[in-house]
Amino acid sequence: MGLILGIETSCDETAVAVLKDNELLAHKISSQIKIHAEYGGVVPELASREHLKNLLIVYEQVIREAKIKPEQIELVAATRGPGLPGALMIGWRFAQGFAYASRCPLYGIHHHEAHLYSAWLEGLPPRLAIEKFEPNISLIVSGGHTILADVAAPLRHQVLGQTLDDAAGECFDKIAKLLGLPYPGGPIIEHLAKNGDPQAYKFPRPMLNSNDLNFSYSGLKTAVRYFLRDRPELLKSEKNIADLCASVQAAIIDVLIAKTITATLKAGRRCITVSGGVACNRVLREKLAMECAQRGFNLRIASPQFCTDNAVMIAAVAWIKQAHGDSPTEMEADIIPDWDLQDLHL
Ligand code: KG4
Ligand code: ZN
Repeated sequence: MGLILGIETSCDETAVAVLKDNELLAHKISSQIKIHAEYGGVVPELASREHLKNLLIVYEQVIREAKIKPEQIELVAATRGPGLPGALMIGWRFAQGFAYASRCPLYGIHHHEAHLYSAWLEGLPPRLAIEKFEPNISLIVSGGHTILADVAAPLRHQVLGQTLDDAAGECFDKIAKLLGLPYPGGPIIEHLAKNGDPQAYKFPRPMLNSNDLNFSYSGLKTAVRYFLRDRPELLKSEKNIADLCASVQAAIIDVLIAKTITATLKAGRRCITVSGGVACNRVLREKLAMECAQRGFNLRIASPQFCTDNAVMIAAVAWIKQAHGDSPTEMEADIIPDWDLQDLHL
């Protein structure tokens, strides 16, 4: 094995990484948040155009920083799905062209399979500490997805539950909009919630007692919408907005934690991993840490730089796959925008 080039363009981050086996040499994430913020969410056509504009620049920066020559790269990995078709296409075609020209194997990576391992990236320089792996329940919480999976061994997972409608991050974003706050909603709600009382308003904890491991967040958003329609005066006071933020945040997080703990107990696991943009949330990190400490569970939350979309996790999964003797992807293979995490391995 040797140098691995990783590429991620499934949504609104253009990311490139170079790994030497499981060790990170260099990586960069070019976020489009500012561009999409104006529209209150990701605009697919704009995302594709930005990837097209930035990918080569980001790639060149990473190659320079890794102090390598492109011809030294021995394996190429890129996100093949799921994601926005136009956005995926830019990174995948780049990877295909690179692999074809440099005659190295190409691995098409499932974006969420990569998230499953990002909590095992640790140290300075970061490396994928796969030798520490233990069977775990993995929670992926981002703007597009809320997924609970049982990861029995590297490359062996089973999806236990997922959101039936809005993702947790999407719920933060949509409620922020209702509160007149900018996109993305998660970080600003977390910030304002610091001065608020999480028990000020009792918002529903959707699916808390549903007897399964699925999530549903659209009902919470609707509950907040009707609540504000009937009490618009609340939005005039900073203290009330802080209380609303804290109460909403608590409702979203309570369900995430309860379901994750239930999944871990049901599956008989002793380890939990968490990744995705919402995993940057400090209240989620602290509350989950407390719950895990009480039960003696080992908790690994991805470091904030690897919570959000990045190419390090993409290259890292390719490294695991190659080490396990998985065949590379056919050179002519296409993107899979609606790729299901359950369709990979059982
Ligand atoms: O993983 P990510 O960067 O992009 C994808 O959706 O793939 O996640 C972005 C999401 C947004 O919905 C954003 O509001 C949420 O993660 N987020 C947070 C925080 N930081 C980002 N949610 C809650 N608290 C945060 N600190
Ligand atoms: Zn993601």
